[in-house]
Parts: sequence; C-alpha cells; structure tokens
Amino acid sequence: MRTQHGNWKPILVSLLSSFFILSCYADSMDLTIKHLGDGQSIVRANESKRYLLLPIEEKAGEAKLYMISNNDVIKTINIRLAINKVDYFVPLDLSAYEAKNLGFNIQLVPDSALCWREMKLSDTFDSSNREKYRPKYHFSPAYGWMNDPNGMVYKDGEYHLFYQYNPYGSMWGNMHWGHAISKDLITWTHQPVAIAPDGLGTIFSGSCVIDKNNTAGFGANAIIAFYTSAGERQSQSMAYSLDNGRTFKKYERNPILTSTVRDFRDPKVFWHEETSKWILILAAGQEMQIYSSANLKDWTLESTFGDGQGAHGGVWECPDLVQLPIKGTDLKKWVLICNLNPGGPFGGSATQYFVGTFDGKTFKNESAPEVTKWMDYGKDHYATVTWSNAPENRHIALAWMSNWEYANDVPTMQFRSSNSVPRDLSLYTQDDEIYLSCTPSKEVDALRSKLEKQKSFKVERTYNLGDMFKTPCDAYEIELNIKNHGAEVIGFQLFNEKGEEIDCYYNLIEKTFSVDRTKSGITNFSKSFPAVTSAPIVVGSTYKLRLLVDRASIEAFDGDGKFAMTNLIFPTEPYKRLSFYSKGGKYDVISVKVYKLGE
Ligand code: FRU
Repeated sequence: MRTQHGNWKPILVSLLSSFFILSCYADSMDLTIKHLGDGQSIVRANESKRYLLLPIEEKAGEAKLYMISNNDVIKTINIRLAINKVDYFVPLDLSAYEAKNLGFNIQLVPDSALCWREMKLSDTFDSSNREKYRPKYHFSPAYGWMNDPNGMVYKDGEYHLFYQYNPYGSMWGNMHWGHAISKDLITWTHQPVAIAPDGLGTIFSGSCVIDKNNTAGFGANAIIAFYTSAGERQSQSMAYSLDNGRTFKKYERNPILTSTVRDFRDPKVFWHEETSKWILILAAGQEMQIYSSANLKDWTLESTFGDGQGAHGGVWECPDLVQLPIKGTDLKKWVLICNLNPGGPFGGSATQYFVGTFDGKTFKNESAPEVTKWMDYGKDHYATVTWSNAPENRHIALAWMSNWEYANDVPTMQFRSSNSVPRDLSLYTQDDEIYLSCTPSKEVDALRSKLEKQKSFKVERTYNLGDMFKTPCDAYEIELNIKNHGAEVIGFQLFNEKGEEIDCYYNLIEKTFSVDRTKSGITNFSKSFPAVTSAPIVVGSTYKLRLLVDRASIEAFDGDGKFAMTNLIFPTEPYKRLSFYSKGGKYDVISVKVYKLGE
C-alpha cells in the first residue's frame, strides 16, 4: 500500500497546503491541486486541453485516480504516479468532457511526490518511438502495456487486431481492448481504444465474430465482440460494432454468461456449420467449457474438456477450437488450442493443443490423455488464438511474444510486448500422431527486401561466414538448407562485437533443435530469462530452417513446418556475424541465404 511510502511532508505543511491552491508549480498554472492529507488530493483542470499528461515511475506502487465530471466518477484508473523520478508520461484523454466540470480524485500519493509538479495539460502527446527494442516488423503498441491478442477478425479487406491493453502505463493493469487494423498482417495502423472498463470490470481477453445473418439482432454483418468482464469475479459480456470495428457499443444486458468458478474467462466464439449453431469455448479453472447458442446471447452448456488431459502445470487460458486440414490428405481434424500458465516446457507460459473430433457439443481428444503437444518450443509464445473469418479458409494464428515469468520486466519502457509473426496452421502426421504445423504466413515472405548473402560450403569443424551485412541490420531472415554427412551436432552462432551471441544447434543424438539465449545480451532482468529451449526433431539427412530475427526476438521455423520456436532477445547491439560448427562429423550447407527484412 502506498500509504507506507516515505518522504511525507510534515503534517503542518500538508494541512496548510490543503487550504491553498497549489497549482503554482513551474509551468502548470493550468491545474489546481489540493492535498487533503492521508495521500488524497484533488486536481482540477483550469483550462480546456485535450490531455492530462500523467508522469509515471514504474517502481512506484499503484495509486488510484478517479476521473470526475459533474461530480460523477466516469473513470477509475490504477496508476504508478511518479514519486521520485519520471520514467515517462501517459495521456489521459479529456476531449469528451468540459474542462470546467472536470476533476481528479487521486489517492495513495504523498504530497511530496514529484508527480504534482510534473503533471500537465497538453493538446499533444508525443508517441514517436524512443525505444531501441521496438520491433521493426512485429506488432507492438505505440505506448503502454500489451498482452494477449484479442478478437482477431477479418472483414472487408481488413484484419482487425484487438489486444489486452493498459493505456496508463507499460505494466499490466487497467485492461482495455486496444485496436489496430492491417490490410496485409504486417503493416498496422493504430486505432483508438475499442472497449474500455465499466461497472462490470476491466476488459479481459476474448474474440469477435461477424454476425452475417443478424442472429443477435444488432444488425446484419455486425462485428460482435465477446470478452471477459473482470470484476471481483469473472463473467462474459458482449459488445457490437456497426462501423467495421471503429466503435463498439456494449450490450445493455451484460453479462451474458456467469459462473461461480473463479477463473472463468477468454471466450472464443465461432459458427459451427454442421449444427447451424454458434459455439463458445472458454477456460474455467483447468478445463474448457463448451456452450452453444442460436442468438449469441443465450448460451447452453454442452460439455467440458480437460480433466486428466495434457499438461496441467497451471491455469488454462485463451482457448480456440478450429478445424484444420491434414497435409497430403482430404481429411480434417479439430484442434483445441489451450494456453497454459505456468507449466510450459521451459517454465512459465506456453501453448498446448489437442487433436480430435468435435460434433457441435463435445470435443474428443484422439491422442492418449497423457500426451502433451506444444505449439511452439520457445519461451515467448503465449495466448495464441486464430483469426475469425480469415479469407481463403486460412487459419492464421498470432501469439503474444512474452512470458508471464518476466513480461513486466523486459527492458523497454515506452511500450511493453509485441506479437509473434502471423502463422498459418495446418496438420501433419508423424508416427501415427497428428501434429500442428505452424509456418510464417505468406505475408511475412513479402518483407524480404534484399538478399544480402548467399553461400554454399562444407563444415568440417568450423566455418566463419563473416559479416552478414555491409551496414548494421537488425531485422533479417536466415534460410538454411543443410545435408548431413555424419555430424552429431550441426550448429551455428549469431554474434556481435560485444561477445553477445545466440547459439542454435541440432543435436542428432538427442534428436533436438535448440536455441541458447543465455549469452544473447541483456538477460539479467529476470532469473527465468536466460534459457536454452529445445524442440524434438526427426533425424534425417537434410535439415531446412528459417530464422526470423527482429530487434528483440528470434523465431525459428522448421522448413517443413514441423516445429516453431519463439524467443525474445535483447542484444546491446545487433548481431552481425554468422559462423557454423560441427561436432562428431561433417555437413554441407547446401545454401544459406540472408535476407534483409523491410527497408
Ligand atoms: C492470459 C490472460 C487471460 C486474461 C488476460 C488478462 O495472458 O491471463 O486469461 O483474459 O490475460 O489480461
């Protein structure tokens, strides 16, 4: 609790100050600030400006800010107002209110805090990038915190991406649905917040559908969003948009689905053709519940899935249920995607999945219950769900590229977290089991702007390819095609002049592909960050691999789509050299190609 915070002014000063107008700090005649004692203050706007810019100190505890118009509370925010130093500012948009009626009741902040001198009204907020680790081709919010991708839906040539968003700081809290739109899944245009907290709670994860036939009565082709209202308890609510996602109106009779289960969230809704019903799947504790509906408002519980199935090292979250083709056949199977935190293969968050059948009521896992299948073998792939209504029957998945073990601590400030590249999903069969194949969506290929290097050579012990680029480059793809001639380890390293490196290797004795980021750059912000992640592989004579590197991430994809591995990295300067090594024998690099991605 902030009330324990030090640096309190003597009581007398505090009492006196509460009788005077304290707006007279430096440049902020525009605000009147009255301290009421016990960490409470009232701030009033004296002129009409678009934003109140609030100074944030990330190490400060959370204060409470009640925004008041005409004496009514219209917004409640948890906010780390600066006590001793300002890390950055966040804007509170005042444009919908009249300045003369506006006030802010702020609690849990001492009178001596720096924020009283630093907060200010302004007509502008500068969100131009200040971050070295801002990804070049992965989506990240302009400012503030992001976690799960939400409500992804395609309509009229536009891919909508909503996401768990805190506009009032770069750490988790105040969950809203942020929003961005893209025509190509790569270039995103930021949109205003789509759904904001209300009397039922903050806005947790969920999904969107297009109601083509107006089954809910909001209008044909409405985009309907389903999300979790996270108050003291969790329930499911809906909102709809009649202007292609630009604005949403909440359904007046929310919530539409309640339960006494504590963790009850993340509804994914889709149309089930065979039974002509809407299906909603959500996470309830460590299982998934499946509901059906004709009108998207009244839901009937059909079944539950999960007891004794797969990994249960943590709570189940963010489900999805999709029907996918099995490569090389005319068959399809249903895949239940289940995000799990903690309990991932390398600690913390991860995405598991089950392959089986779904008849509109019940999902049946066709593998033995103890079999666990992972969608990605890195540490930073979570809350993965797919786009609704994607064109050409595509199933495009997107993951939040972080891990709850350290998501709040990664070394960025203006924003925190980005998403993976979009991936197209399908299935393949291996030794009588069916697995998910995740390959970068074709839109990612279009990022290749220049072939910087192309070579073929033999690796007996080591082979130094030297500099990959003529000028420093921090967004690129490496495509490898290797033929083995008896090596037990096929490895290669990316490194910079600071001695930071990423080590990638196939171990053909252990039948794994691994990425070691223990010496990758900044790793000391969390004990769980330095890690070696490994994926199982099938040993053969050739190996194909695609590595997508951005300023703060490395995604490895098996060339045949058999594994994916997503890891964050924070090199203090870009890696520039690439060298290969072998152990126990030799191999041929049939080709290595390095493409620059983007401009
Ligand atoms: C997953 C999750 C969801 C929840 C959201 C809250 O990362 O915990 O279950 O809806 O984040 O931000």
